[in-house]
Amino acid sequence: MTIKLEKVVPWGRNLNEYISMFDLTSAEKNLTILDGPAAQSSFNYEMTLQGYHVISCDPIYQFTADEIYQRIQAVYQSIIEQAKVNYDRFLWHNFQSPANLGEVRMAAMEKFLQDFPNGVEQKRYLTAELPNLPFENRKFD
Ligand SMILES: C[S@@+](CC[C@H](N)C(=O)[O-])C[C@H]1O[C@@H](n2cnc3c(N)ncnc32)[C@H](O)[C@@H]1O
Repeated sequence: MTIKLEKVVPWGRNLNEYISMFDLTSAEKNLTILDGPAAQSSFNYEMTLQGYHVISCDPIYQFTADEIYQRIQAVYQSIIEQAKVNYDRFLWHNFQSPANLGEVRMAAMEKFLQDFPNGVEQKRYLTAELPNLPFENRKFD
């Protein structure tokens, strides 16, 4: 794996954002889903809680939850500052402000960090890097 943690800008969306982003239907949530690169999304955690089946992959999963947390802390404020500086270049339909965006993203990342050690043991979070993923053909729906 070639990824360097100091080059990664951690960010993570939640289940509702995934549903909107991919137009996921209730029926599709029942399928076996591969999320990649999943980064610090809480999609796997929230779906698993509801009894669904998601495997997440990302090269950043070679690091520990604490290392990923430290990296989030290192860059979080500057991401929010960038959102403020570039305020007019974003559509603010889903978030009230850069601060609100940060709160929603941080809540998702905190869920991910809480779930990550268990999820690694359960093989729901796999260290894997495109273009070669360690899955047989058609393993996912
Ligand atoms: C924008 S984030 C993904 C966000 C996530 N899907 C979400 O919506 O919350 C990008 C991720 O791509 C990962 N990445 C970088 N190079 C990659 C590669 N060659 N294969 C797979 N993932 C890679 C990074 O580690 C990073 O976590």
